[in-house]
Amino acid sequence: MGRFSPPLLPLIYVTFCSIFLWLCVSGEPLRHNEDLSSSDMCLPHSARVNCSYLPLEFLECDKPTDHRGNQSARDDEGHGCVKFGGQRFEDVEITKVWCSVLDGIDCCGERKFLRDGFPCIKYSGHYFVTTLIYSVLLGFLGMDRFCLGQTGTAVGKLLTMGGVGIWWIVDIVLLITGSLTPEDGSNWNPYV
Ligand SMILES: *[C@@H]1O[C@H](CO)[C@@H](O)[C@H](O)[C@H]1NC(C)=O
Ligand SMILES: *[C@@H]1O[C@H](CO)[C@@H](O)[C@H](O)[C@H]1NC(C)=O
Repeated sequence: MGRFSPPLLPLIYVTFCSIFLWLCVSGEPLRHNEDLSSSDMCLPHSARVNCSYLPLEFLECDKPTDHRGNQSARDDEGHGCVKFGGQRFEDVEITKVWCSVLDGIDCCGERKFLRDGFPCIKYSGHYFVTTLIYSVLLGFLGMDRFCLGQTGTAVGKLLTMGGVGIWWIVDIVLLITGSLTPEDGSNWNPYV
């Protein structure tokens, strides 16, 4: 002990710490790389789940592509929507969309993939009850059709005072039976 002069002890201590720190820091990128490469494959008995089996809560998914009625564009891309909307389940197109796994969620395999089962539905702030009230109270002014974006027929309805009352009633029936819907193909907003 007597051979180490007191100022030498801190120096040795600092040297050891530096070497230790350097090992930690230089080891870090190495470990990181290992993680990345192992996340590309799913081992048969590993606890990590294949990314494409994760539930929607762990994914961020794009909106379905709108092909605006172009069937060949849809066939080219292999997914997307030719038309939006439909009031009954069977009428609604189902498509694949691109989903990516949220950051910080651990899984194996591709982190970006196509997931099937998304309905071709969009909402643009049209409410069924509100529109029905417009139709009943202000149908003779064509207010219901104005709100749905059907401007042409709305003007006609306004000028004819709701087809002298007949069109007024017909539109209420069309609304209730689901034949009169927003012009842009969007669905009734389900949240009141
Ligand atoms: C439909 O899409 C195809 C290719 O995706 C394009 O060549 C064609 O011009 C489109 N047709 C219309 C009517 O937009
Ligand atoms: C994950 O599952 C998908 C769908 O079954 C499969 O195509 C893919 O090969 C799997 N990925 C891995 C890395 O096993």
